Parts: sequence; C-alpha cells; structure tokens
Amino acid sequence: MEYRYLTFLFLFWGSLAFCSINAGEPAKRLISFDDDWYFRLENPGNAADGQNDWSQVCIPHDWSVELPFTEIPDGEVATGHKAGGTAWYKKNFILAYNDVDKFITLCFDGVYMESEIWLNGKKVFYHPNGYTPFRCDITAFCNSSGVENELKVKVSNAGKNSRWYSGSGIYRHVWLMKTERLHLDAGSTSITTENVSEDKAILNISTEVFNATNRQIKGELFFEIYGPSGERVGKAKSIFISLGNIKSTVYKNIIINKPQWWNLESPALYKAKMYTKAAGKITDVIEIPFGIRTISFSAEKGFQLNGKTIKLKGGCIHHDNGLLGAAAIDRAEVRKVELLKKNGFNAVRCAHNPPSEQFLNICDSLGLLVIDEAFDQWQKPKNPNDYHRFFDEWSIPDVESMVRRDRNHPSIIMWSIGNEIQERADSSGIQIAVKLKNEVRKLDKTRPITAAVNEFWDNPQLKWNDSERAFRNLDVCGYNYMWREYENDHRLYPHRIIFGSESTAMERAVNWDLVESNPYIIGDFVWTAMDYLGEAGIANTGYYSKNETKFPQFMSYPWFNSWCGDIDICGTPKPQSLYRDVVWHNSAIEMTVHAPEPDGKKEKVSYWGWPDEKACWNWSGSENKMLDVRVFTRYPFVRLYLNDLLLEEKIIRNTDKNRYTATFKVPYQPGTLKAVGMMAGKPSDSIALTTTGPVKAIRLKADRTTIRANRNDLAYVTVELVDDKGNVVPDEDMELAIWFKGEAKVIAGNASPTDMKSFRSLKPFTYQGRALAIVQPEGRPGKLTLEVSSRKTGTATLDILMY
Ligand code: GAL
Repeated sequence: MEYRYLTFLFLFWGSLAFCSINAGEPAKRLISFDDDWYFRLENPGNAADGQNDWSQVCIPHDWSVELPFTEIPDGEVATGHKAGGTAWYKKNFILAYNDVDKFITLCFDGVYMESEIWLNGKKVFYHPNGYTPFRCDITAFCNSSGVENELKVKVSNAGKNSRWYSGSGIYRHVWLMKTERLHLDAGSTSITTENVSEDKAILNISTEVFNATNRQIKGELFFEIYGPSGERVGKAKSIFISLGNIKSTVYKNIIINKPQWWNLESPALYKAKMYTKAAGKITDVIEIPFGIRTISFSAEKGFQLNGKTIKLKGGCIHHDNGLLGAAAIDRAEVRKVELLKKNGFNAVRCAHNPPSEQFLNICDSLGLLVIDEAFDQWQKPKNPNDYHRFFDEWSIPDVESMVRRDRNHPSIIMWSIGNEIQERADSSGIQIAVKLKNEVRKLDKTRPITAAVNEFWDNPQLKWNDSERAFRNLDVCGYNYMWREYENDHRLYPHRIIFGSESTAMERAVNWDLVESNPYIIGDFVWTAMDYLGEAGIANTGYYSKNETKFPQFMSYPWFNSWCGDIDICGTPKPQSLYRDVVWHNSAIEMTVHAPEPDGKKEKVSYWGWPDEKACWNWSGSENKMLDVRVFTRYPFVRLYLNDLLLEEKIIRNTDKNRYTATFKVPYQPGTLKAVGMMAGKPSDSIALTTTGPVKAIRLKADRTTIRANRNDLAYVTVELVDDKGNVVPDEDMELAIWFKGEAKVIAGNASPTDMKSFRSLKPFTYQGRALAIVQPEGRPGKLTLEVSSRKTGTATLDILMY
C-alpha cells in the first residue's frame, strides 16, 4: 500500500521570504523592524557590571552569547555554561499619516522565550514558545499617526528550560506589517499541486480575503504565477462579494504547462503573486514562492521525490550558529545549508524545534530536504522550567504557527510532532499524538507526520514492544538509535516506513547499510551534522586510568560545546565526516591516525563521540611509537605505504563494529603515509597524509571577499597556520592577534569544544591550525581591512569590500 502525498505548494506566512538578502527587497507591506532597538538585562546573574544600562542593539540579537561563560547552576552543561535571565527590548516608532485605518501587525520569527509585547504602557501579547513565529495585531494600541509609540518586549529565559543552548532574546527577524482593511494573508494561503506531469501541473490555491470594513465589498482577486526565470506562466481572477468584517475563502485552480520540477539538483522556484482590487484600487499584494514537486512514502518504494526513490542522507542540527550564538543572521543560515550540502547531506532534521524562516528559504533555494519538528517535550518535563509548563494551552497554537508559516516550503517533507517524548506510549501520549496530528492535518494534508521515538530508558517498565503505541499515530516512524529493531519491526509491521531519526557517527555504516538494503528504511540522520553549543561534551573522548569504570556523560566546565558534529562549529569537517563520506559513496578512500595514547591510560569514547583521531601525519615526539592508522574504503583490500615502502596489505572486513575499515599499526616516522585501495590486485584510488613543515605564515581564506553592506551579510574568514609549502600545520597552535579597521565588526574564535578564552575573542588560539573570523558589516558601504598576526609569523592582511 502506498501512502501518497500530493505535490505541494509553497507559500509563505507574511511573504517574509522576500525580505531576505537572497530573495530581493521587502514588499512594501512588510517593513524590517530589526534596527534601532535598545536592550537592558534585568538579572544578569554573573554577568559583568554595567549590563543593566540600556544599550543599542540590532536584531537578530542573542544576549546569552555575549555574556561570559559562567559556572552558575542554571543551565550548566545543558546550555554550554551560558546564562539566560530576563531582559527588556524597546524601540520607538511613528506611524505615517497614510497609515490611518491600516492594520498594524508585529511579526516575530522567534524570541527565546516567554515574550511579552508591551505597547505604549499596555501589555498587548504574550508568547511563551521560544521557537515558533508569532504575530500581534497592535492596531488598537498604536498612537495616532505622527505621535511616537513606545514598543517594549520583555523576554524571560529563566531557570532550567532547555537541554541545549537556546540563546536568549529576539534572535530572529522582526517585521512591521501594514495592511489595508481589505487584505490578504500569506499564512492563510495554501498552494498544492495535483496531476503533476512533464506536460502540466494543476495548482490548487486556497486563500482568504479579509474584509475588515463594516461594509460589503465587491472586488477582484488576481492571481499571477511566475516561473523560475521570472516569466509569467499563468494567471487567473476571481470576483468576490464579501460582507463587512468577514474573511472569505477563495479557491482557484491554475494550470502550469511544462512545469519545471523542484528537486535537489535544480530546485526550481515559482512565485505566486496575488492581489486584491476594489473600487479600482489595489488594496493588497502578496507574493509567495513555491515549488512544484511530488513526494510519496511507502514501505515498498521508500521516500520518493518526483517519483524517484531517494535515501535520506540526513543530519540533525540545532539552531545555533556557533560563534554567533542563536542569532539567525541571514548569511549564517545560508552558510549552514551550504556546508551541509557540500558535506553530502541531502536532508536535515531541525532538532527539536522549527528553524528560522530564512533557513527554510535557503533549503528551498539550494535544495535540502527538511523535517520540521515541533517539540522536545509534551506534558511531561525534561527540565523543571521547560515548555511542558505551556504545553496544554499552547501546543495547538504553536503547531498551527509552525504549519502556517512553513507549509509552502518545497523543502519540507515531514512534520515531526516530537522528540523522545516521555509519555509517547502512555494513554495520555496517544491522545496527544492524535490531537497534534489532527491539527497538522487541518492545515496540511500533503506531508506525513513523524516523531523521533527512543528506547524506554526513560521508562524502564516498558519494553520495545510497547513502542507500537508510540508509533501507531505516525505515518513515518523515526527511530532514535534503534537500528537493531528495524528488521524485526518490519516483520511485525510490514507497512511501517522507518528512518533513523538519530544515530551516532561510529554506527554510521551499520545504519546506512540497513538503509541501502531495505526499501522500507528511508534514511538515517546522524546526531549531529554540526557541532552545537550546549550539551557540553556529550561526545567527549578522554583517557582514563586502566581500572576506571565510571565515565562522565557530559563534561563539566570549560567544555561548552557538544562535540557531536560531523562538522565543527567553525565549519571544518571532523574525522567522522571522512568515514561518512566513504559510507555514503562520496569518497573512495579516507584515512585517519589515532593520537598516541598516554602511558598507562585507556581511551574512552562516548556513545556520540569519535576516537581521538586526526587526518594528519604530524606526530613529532612520537617517532618509532606504534600509531593506529585507520583507512576507510569500500575497496576489498588496502595497501599502506610509508615513504614509498609497502608496510602491509589488509582485507577490509565488514564486521558490525568496523565496517569499511582497515586498521594498521605503524611506527611513526615523518614523511608521507599513503593508503591505496586495491581492486582485483590493481591499485586504484589512494589517499596520502604528509608531515608538514613548521608554521611559516598565516593564510586568510574568505568565503566571499565582496559582500553587501548589511548586517545580515557576513564574510567568513578562515585563518590558517601554514608551512612554507602552504600546507595547514595541525599541531603547532598559537595565539593570534586580530586587528581590523573599517565599516564592520569582527567576531572570532576557534572550533575547540573547551577553549572558552578564544570564544568571540580577538586573541583566539588556533585549534588544529585554524581559527575563524566572521566579518559583520555595520551597514555602511566601504572596506574592512583584517590583519592577523602571531608571534611566530608575519601579518596576513585581507580586505573585504562591502557595497
Ligand atoms: C538524544 C536526544 C538529543 C540529544 C542526544 C545526545 O537522545 O534526542 O536531543 O540529547 O540524545 O546528545
């Protein structure tokens, strides 16, 4: 039986996409409200003195990332030793004379958390969820045109409310929306497609016309559809007569001939423009990007995009942007998607909350599949102050908010209603699942509903058999770390569609082999694709005395980062990502070398961790010591050479633990270590690691040297210590001095999970030969000159142009 979801349309809640740096200028009805805010922290905990004064800030803003690391109990390892607290934001604004009679709405894409919106001394709105977008109609509270309004936002990130670094404040964009009394609403619009073929696709558009006047209005609603290269490919018109103070739903079918399909290689985006006209005047215009594609899920064919089975090469990610904290700066979100794609991921699971709208826009435009997730807990808490406090009252509005904003993004393929929910198999949990599912279905019938279900370590009287109750309301079943159950569950429930919603880097191959060999397993999502702040040291690897039996689950201060990622917080792939490249057929052969173990100690690698390896052959001081070298490949045999001398040939044995891996013991001598994949006795692909010379210079590598003079654009400059041949030297780290001049600021740091001193410091240490400097324009065009030096090297200089 095939569970088929019709193709979809993609439109936006509030057309916010058009305000992103990549999607053109803001539509007139939507005004960026990110500038000129003032901020004051109320209870700064251990924060430095002086934090109590109002200071000018721009949104997106995360105050936690700017506070010093602290060992106070709140948050602790969970939030990466960053404090939360309560703060106020304020901003004044004046409405224009032609705003009289308009609806004035504030649109927040994400505020962490428990926000109160105050206008002119009155509390007008409250929104507890830290990740869902919300809007407040402030029309009735605004002063008349020409008179200043004082907007204040109280944000409270108090107590233990998160299992990871959440960030604090208005960390995503804010917009002011002005609409006429007769208006449209992108969030109330849905565009789906049916009968999609090479020849045509039928768009089903459903939208609402809001008549907020007291009188009956006869008007017209125009639809114009623009193709990926901007040409008009369809149009239609509806006539409506609406009574005063009602909204009328309008349905329209439009045929698109020869549609260009949205897919991962060329994610073609269309645009639907809709406008209302009454008494000869256009009263509102909305523009909604969308894609034309089909998705379907079945146990027989797996996940299909446009009729073609695709295995999900997935990664879970949290929402933070490393050195920038939770601030959802547009370019940081773009870079995240670029990095994921570049590293071979075709899908991402947004753990455990809806991402920023910009992130989804970029997944649409670059072609990355998304699981949009609503919650990390329902009624039962994971932390005393977490969202469980609000669940009963707010879960339905929050699901609605997620689906209304996100349902038209072609990149989204599933809705997840929760992660590792404690009551998942209880009668209360079953009822909640039905309720959440029904709410999603009301707004979107085209995508399956999933959740990430774990073993019952949190409820030991239950057994895995009881998971049937957790899965019974799901269309697609997410298994966290439960790959051992896939095949048995398939025998019991042959129609069940399964994916690994979380898995570890070390178990990558066994998971992926199951995915490849079973159509009903549609993919695997590693925990995690990128390092994130908080859950400090969950993926730690350490050396302990030989008789030690107790190992920490998290690492205490100064660990602040999870260290689970395939990619580090500065964007460099870690050794586990080399293994993943081989497992996913993206690379033929890779090699890592284990650091020499300290005498008398043994290594303990956490479940989410990776052995203490590096892809390098710089082990000065360990001459003649036997080092463990691992070669990852799908070739049946591997030969290893040191300085052109054949050391050994090994068979690749695909045992459960070490699939696609050959381990060699090599006495260290500097030079070149080369591994060659052998096929039918013939050498094939190879990989080499060469000892570098000492550090001679600093090299600056910018992802882009010309950027927009806009705070939402960024240049990421990787600082590298290089030898005289230009190789990155991974074992001679040193302190850098970063100096800059120009119309931007610079935020620097490294990828180390424990180097708190370097985090957002202009004197960071390098970590394995690298550091990162992020250039953020202040808003004025010009030039930023960046100079980086160290005591051992000269100065490297780079200019970033901002226009
Ligand atoms: C999982 C959980 C994730 C994360 C991970 C360990 O059980 O779903 O959110 O906590 O463990 O890092």
